[in-house]
Amino acid sequence: MLKGKHIILGITGGIAAYKSVSLLRLFVKAGAEVQVVITPAGKEFITPVTLSALSGRPVISEFFTANTGQWNSHVDIGLWADAMVIAPATASTIAKMACGVADNMLVTTYLSAKAPVFVAPAMDLDMMAHPTTQRNIDLLRSYGNHIIDSRAGELASHLVGKGRMAEPEEILAAVDAFFESSLTMKGLKVRVTAGPTYEKIDPVRFIGNYSSGKMGYAIADEAARRGADVTVVSGPVSVSPSEPGVKVVRVESAREMMEAARREFAEADVAVMAAAVADYAPAEQAQSKIKREGAEPPVIRLVKNPDIAAALGEVKRSGQTLVGFALETDHEMENAADKMRRKNLDMIVLNSLRDSGAGFGTDTNLVTMLTADGRSKRYDLKPKREVASDILDQICALR
Ligand code: CTP
Repeated sequence: MLKGKHIILGITGGIAAYKSVSLLRLFVKAGAEVQVVITPAGKEFITPVTLSALSGRPVISEFFTANTGQWNSHVDIGLWADAMVIAPATASTIAKMACGVADNMLVTTYLSAKAPVFVAPAMDLDMMAHPTTQRNIDLLRSYGNHIIDSRAGELASHLVGKGRMAEPEEILAAVDAFFESSLTMKGLKVRVTAGPTYEKIDPVRFIGNYSSGKMGYAIADEAARRGADVTVVSGPVSVSPSEPGVKVVRVESAREMMEAARREFAEADVAVMAAAVADYAPAEQAQSKIKREGAEPPVIRLVKNPDIAAALGEVKRSGQTLVGFALETDHEMENAADKMRRKNLDMIVLNSLRDSGAGFGTDTNLVTMLTADGRSKRYDLKPKREVASDILDQICALR
């Protein structure tokens, strides 16, 4: 579950910091990207050189990098993260976190992080047993942080009692289990529109677009892998689902897609509108092939197609999550946010045609996701399968 996940590993000044090196290696081995944030006291126990070599990223400790003056933005790091893991967490850091004492990079990052936070306390047994520490840990728990309890055993002081940090393997397992349980889509009905629509001009010609359907099918496959019951309402495409359980309802025009999508949405928990629906269709369809010889070039009058996403947005019930896409060429963020509001979506996935590797026909995509609560997150250029996984992660986080 940790593959491709962004993890902040917060290290504070305790003897158990030496175990953080193993934890870092385990995260990296599991495919996560790890950003180490260490307190000044943490650096007394373990060197940033070791940590940056293993994580492949400069270790962050100060608000500014001394020689360049570069500001280390705790806000950006906090938003980048899919999880923050503070191991070891000393009594002092736990107290600062509980009270919001933002006097170092680690606590400021913690206060900015939107992702789940895991705290692995480690300290001497009397410090751990002290009512102040216990109250602070309870406070952190009540704020929704995940406490990975310390274990009993021999401590650095040679005293025996509770205070040893949980083993790196246990911490990794706790984070992994969290992602697994929060990302499962078992029991959910996921409906996806995909591909282009073809709007008939005559029996052999149509108005269409370059949509390949790859993004929508990648979302359908990923949802099926997560245990959802999945149906794709698909325009004409040459791709097909890789997961055996995915059902496909084939349609051609926007009107047919609308009818099928309405039917499917009635029972959906999640609907993702990934189709590139033609905005217009010919007002009349010629019953026989329009001939070239002897005729004036035809003028094709167009009429507006129904907006499927907006129609579903109008009938959306509480508990249903509706997600759309936006393909924009300018004022991308404003246009996408506006589209999300107009269509009553819970989230919109923006891909800009200006970015190479994003959009129609490609195997990769570069997206920004905007949610109805006003947040946005930009992702790196990735294969569509990984983008699908990011989209479903966000959907699971919204529900
Ligand atoms: N959409 C839809 N039905 C339509 C048009 C769009 O369901 N008739 C959905 C798309 O599947 C996508 C979202 O609405 O999830 C936005 O599509 P887009 O083409 O970017 O928006 P439009 O509303 O068509 O606006 P415009 O073309 O003016 O940017």
